[in-house]
Amino acid sequence: MESAAHRCALHHLEMRVSDGEKMVTEFVMKYGFRVIGERDNDISHQWSLKSRECNFIVTEIKPIEFSDSNRRKLAADPYVTGVTANDGWVDDSGSADTFQTRISTVSNVALEVNNLEKYLEKLEKCGVIMIKPIQKVSNQNGEILIATVKSCLENIVHSLVQRNNFKGQLLPGFNDPSPFSISLNSSIKSNIDITHVDHVTFVCETGRSPSVLAWYEKCFGMMPFSLNRDDPDGSLVVKGPNVGLRLSAFDYWKCSETGLTFPGKNKLTFVIAEPFGNSGHSHVKTFMKQHNGPGVQHVGLHTDDIINTIKTLKHNNVQFVEPPYTYYEEAYFLKKVEELGDSLIEDIKTIKCLGILLDSEDQPPNNDLPEKYLMQMFTKPIFNQDTFFLEIIQRRGAVGFGSGNITALCRAVEKLKSTQVAG
Ligand SMILES: [Fe+2]
Repeated sequence: MESAAHRCALHHLEMRVSDGEKMVTEFVMKYGFRVIGERDNDISHQWSLKSRECNFIVTEIKPIEFSDSNRRKLAADPYVTGVTANDGWVDDSGSADTFQTRISTVSNVALEVNNLEKYLEKLEKCGVIMIKPIQKVSNQNGEILIATVKSCLENIVHSLVQRNNFKGQLLPGFNDPSPFSISLNSSIKSNIDITHVDHVTFVCETGRSPSVLAWYEKCFGMMPFSLNRDDPDGSLVVKGPNVGLRLSAFDYWKCSETGLTFPGKNKLTFVIAEPFGNSGHSHVKTFMKQHNGPGVQHVGLHTDDIINTIKTLKHNNVQFVEPPYTYYEEAYFLKKVEELGDSLIEDIKTIKCLGILLDSEDQPPNNDLPEKYLMQMFTKPIFNQDTFFLEIIQRRGAVGFGSGNITALCRAVEKLKSTQVAG
């Protein structure tokens, strides 16, 4: 059992983008986030975005010269974490003339810890590489301690934040929003309510998941989980008549069912996804190619009202991956709806109309909620590359990721194809 000092929770996600203002505008205008702070200096511009308990930092590196001086400045900055003193961009070759971002990415999954010094001691014993040592950052609201370490997965780092002596909402070092951001905030009209980050999904090479799981278990004390009901060893099993069909269906399906978690109030869940074999097409493979390797593939954002949230997001021109209409004719889907009966609160016609995926659990967890299902929908990639995207999810008692839907989607795609051939 891990001691309290070694527990952690998600603090924020940092995305490094080439056009920060554009990304911030999208998050505010489309997704209903508020800009709560900004940092603007000669090497970078950063925005702190918030929706209830969900925090993002958007980082844009200015087109500064690729010099030792700028390298040192970037390395010394507590909040710009994609760059180290030794290796430039974590995921770039360093052959460019400037530090400009070439691939937009979610590069930092920052974690809140109770005792940073003790936490780092443990990580160092595990051989974790520290890329930014402890720094103290303070303002009138108190102080935080922050350090940054590398993940075992390339292109991902973890800032570790100790903030038990800090009372402010905004991290010290960030200023109030600029007039541009204030005007953006004032234009939020939507009733979107993203409450928190439900899970963070990493992508890695085929066959690497077990070692990634073991690394996080050993170094961060996280507990592996597998909710897959079809396979005793916890690997993802997709039942389809052939590989092509299986992979086609998997394109609609972005979650794996193995990962790591800290249960409790501030539950932190990482999910690991990897490509299936060497043949066929899948988003995971495309991600690896266009992202130049592993990284954060998607983030599950929870809402307490997925119907209104999806309606508003679509109104705001957010592009979603729509399931084939045959998904809603699948026996699996119909059985789930029948089983849920009156405990299904949402109108099924609206669920179908919006393209929301629905799943429930065969073996409900021990909780008191009468409903045990989840609803989810995936956006199309939000950067220029076919890489990172968002998942909108609402849980009504269910703790899994809807693995039963994979088979239903396989059959739905098969049925759709046969209908098109017959037509
Ligand atoms: Fe997911």
